[in-house]
Amino acid sequence: MRPVIVVSQLRKTYGTGETAVHALRGVDLTVWPGEYVAIMGASGSGKSTLLNMLGCLDVPTSGKCLLDGFGVGRLNERQLALLRNRKIGFVFQSFNLVPRVSALANVELPLVYSGLRRAARRRRALAALDLVGLSDRARHLPNELSGGQGQRVAVARALVTGPAMLLADEPTGNLDRASTEDVRP
Ligand SMILES: Nc1ncnc2c1ncn2[C@@H]1O[C@H](COP(=O)(O)OP(=O)(O)O)[C@@H](O)[C@H]1O
Ligand SMILES: [Mg+2]
Repeated sequence: MRPVIVVSQLRKTYGTGETAVHALRGVDLTVWPGEYVAIMGASGSGKSTLLNMLGCLDVPTSGKCLLDGFGVGRLNERQLALLRNRKIGFVFQSFNLVPRVSALANVELPLVYSGLRRAARRRRALAALDLVGLSDRARHLPNELSGGQGQRVAVARALVTGPAMLLADEPTGNLDRASTEDVRP
């Protein structure tokens, strides 16, 4: 078994000189398959920065990051995009659903690059919606869903490609307590 995430001496500095912010100062982290890890810390302590590095949404200033065995530092933009699409599911605090299309179409979106045919994409997206208990809301638009339901659609969208890891940055931060219970695994 190999770790899904290996991070060593990860640093991220925003800006330079007097105004430089050292958001990460040498983070080490190993996550194994099946592990459920919560990163806790005060606002501004660097949680989102770390997740953005793990999700290949931003690049570290220095340090090493291996995702499912792949060294992120050596990849170009195209390879990074591919890695993101194949290996990583990301759920944000603001659900980031596409407002004008159905829940089902939102979940299908990451499969557009998969090479799957339309019918197969649809089947998979429906299965992912079923997994989060929303198959009966497939045709609804995002604004016709409750906050908790919207975030569950975002979780389905993150899982539909069968990623090696699911990253979530305060996924219940915009939800009330009952909806939070809806989203939590
Ligand atoms: N794009 C950015 N440019 C400059 N500073 C940033 C940027 N993003 C985050 N920071 C700073 O980095 C630190 C860590 O922020 P962040 O990772 O968002 O923390 P958290 O998610 O734990 O609240 C904060 O001091 C923040 O102001
Ligand atoms: Mg944050």
